[in-house]
Amino acid sequence: MRVVYLGRSGDITAMRRAIGSLPIAERRGAGSLINEAVARMEDELQTASQQLEAGALLQALTDRVDVTYPALPPPVGTTHPIRKTMVDLCSFFERRGFAIVLGPEIEPTYYNFDALNIPVDHPAREAFDSFFLTDSLLLRPHTSPMQIRTMQRFQPPVAVVVPGRCYRRDAVDARHLFMFHQIEGLLVDADIHMGHLKGMLTAMCRDVFGVDQTLRFRPSFFPFTEPSAEVDTTCPACKGDGGECRTCGGSGWIELGGAGMVHPNVLREVNYDPQTVSGWAFGFGIERIALARYGVDDIRLFYENDPAFLDQLS
Ligand code: FA5
Repeated sequence: MRVVYLGRSGDITAMRRAIGSLPIAERRGAGSLINEAVARMEDELQTASQQLEAGALLQALTDRVDVTYPALPPPVGTTHPIRKTMVDLCSFFERRGFAIVLGPEIEPTYYNFDALNIPVDHPAREAFDSFFLTDSLLLRPHTSPMQIRTMQRFQPPVAVVVPGRCYRRDAVDARHLFMFHQIEGLLVDADIHMGHLKGMLTAMCRDVFGVDQTLRFRPSFFPFTEPSAEVDTTCPACKGDGGECRTCGGSGWIELGGAGMVHPNVLREVNYDPQTVSGWAFGFGIERIALARYGVDDIRLFYENDPAFLDQLS
């Protein structure tokens, strides 16, 4: 009301301006009438605004606050399920005497391929094809280059696990990402055989998934291991029944990764003697392990960072 009547373009202001157009004799009378009206209006407005303020104060004074009511828990972050899985896997191997080492995410083709017994014209290069930065440097498509770096640096016995990011130009879908994590394992010593590998991976699986979990080794091929295997675990969602299960796509199994006995050519490349030492290696996808572990049916959910999703897994 103050603005409408008394403001710069208000009605009263307009009347004041109009005084000049009145006959001289009437001007004084009109001026004092307006002044009187304005004074009354100011009074009324002040009283009204005092009443409003007093009302608000009264309201605030009569509102009761229960200071004993429990506070809302503050939102706190938790460890991301991929990080948690990685930490749990590393902890399993650490407890068994393995060292945890990290390697570069940008690797020369030598460590990615040549030293791993994948020569330039070998078709296996295609499966690991990745993002090349130059002709001879690429974002690593797997953690296996660290097998070479580790063996070049240390003499047997070596026992390491290598968690870390890998990159591939795979189309993103429910099971694939272009950036994901692997954990590499490598054990080299005298008289190491496939039984050691199977025993260790079975124990790892039980540690991460629970005691009823079983492993399946399928014959496979990797140029840097011989013999080689793909390692699957029973789907924790359907317990291996398959059928309509969305987690495993009905097969009853979830593929974790590849494994095998380190190829003699790889041992020779790092100046180890395949006659006196042997070793096993594996490379598992951490997101895939997390899929199975948490019964999640789409790998992309891990990176959408929807708090409602992450809270369920925390
Ligand atoms: C390898 O990368 C081998 N370096 C594994 C290995 C190591 C074999 C040591 C023998 C000895 P593969 O390409 O199958 O193998 O990948 C291993 C695992 O990485 C897969 O089983 C899967 O769990 C994960 N993986 C691979 N590509 C993707 C992707 N695009 N998105 C998410 N996970 C992936």
